[in-house]
Amino acid sequence: VKPSSTTTGNPLPPISPAPASTDQPPKAPLFSHALIPSTVLSALPAGYSMRPLARGDYTKGHLETLKNLTTVGDVSEAAWTERYEWMRTSGRGGYYCLVVCDESERVVGTGCVVVEKKFIHNLGSVGHIEDIVVRKDQQGKKLGLRIIEALDHISKEVGCYKTILDCSEANEGFYVKCGYKRAGLEMAHYH
Ligand code: ACO
Repeated sequence: VKPSSTTTGNPLPPISPAPASTDQPPKAPLFSHALIPSTVLSALPAGYSMRPLARGDYTKGHLETLKNLTTVGDVSEAAWTERYEWMRTSGRGGYYCLVVCDESERVVGTGCVVVEKKFIHNLGSVGHIEDIVVRKDQQGKKLGLRIIEALDHISKEVGCYKTILDCSEANEGFYVKCGYKRAGLEMAHYH
């Protein structure tokens, strides 16, 4: 949760995404593919695709891709699927994780926007961009930029009045190229 000091002007009225439900049909996606803008899809390199994270992505390299970002741990397929299903049902409307795949359907990039519903700003929502990563051998193809463009669009579309993220100094230039600017100070208390 970030303080509101960087917010200027009147916040937009909240637009509620679909109400949370734990009663999702078994094959329902994590979120609607229609939330990914066609302009982003058409700007991907030939043969590449972008879609919501899906139940079978454990075997398509989702965690191997995330290992290019940080420690992932020893996560079994059953545990991964349990977490995915929680996001898809209990967490519905809160987790928009997407993947970029190459010609062979291997996951080569991923990122999420997590929607935080607030009491302040007229019951506003804030989008938190999290866990952005492109496999090392796939970097420099504008896949990271396309992931951020898509997540920005989703965040706005589901009613967030702003989208924020934390990053290292080394990645500041990337996010500036994506339209972000430095705001505030990140603090952490590890447990
Ligand atoms: N510093 C400055 N500029 C950069 C950087 C950087 N670290 N990385 C990319 N850029 C520039 C590119 O040169 C390009 O500029 P151009 O338009 O002038 O050509 C533009 O940003 C877009 O670059 P992409 O090709 O889209 O970047 P890429 O697909 O390689 O993805 C990313 C960038 C996601 C940072 C990738 O390098 C990566 O996965 N790094 C390791 C994991 C990581 O650090 N993720 C970010 C964590 S922060 C978070 O999750 C909120």
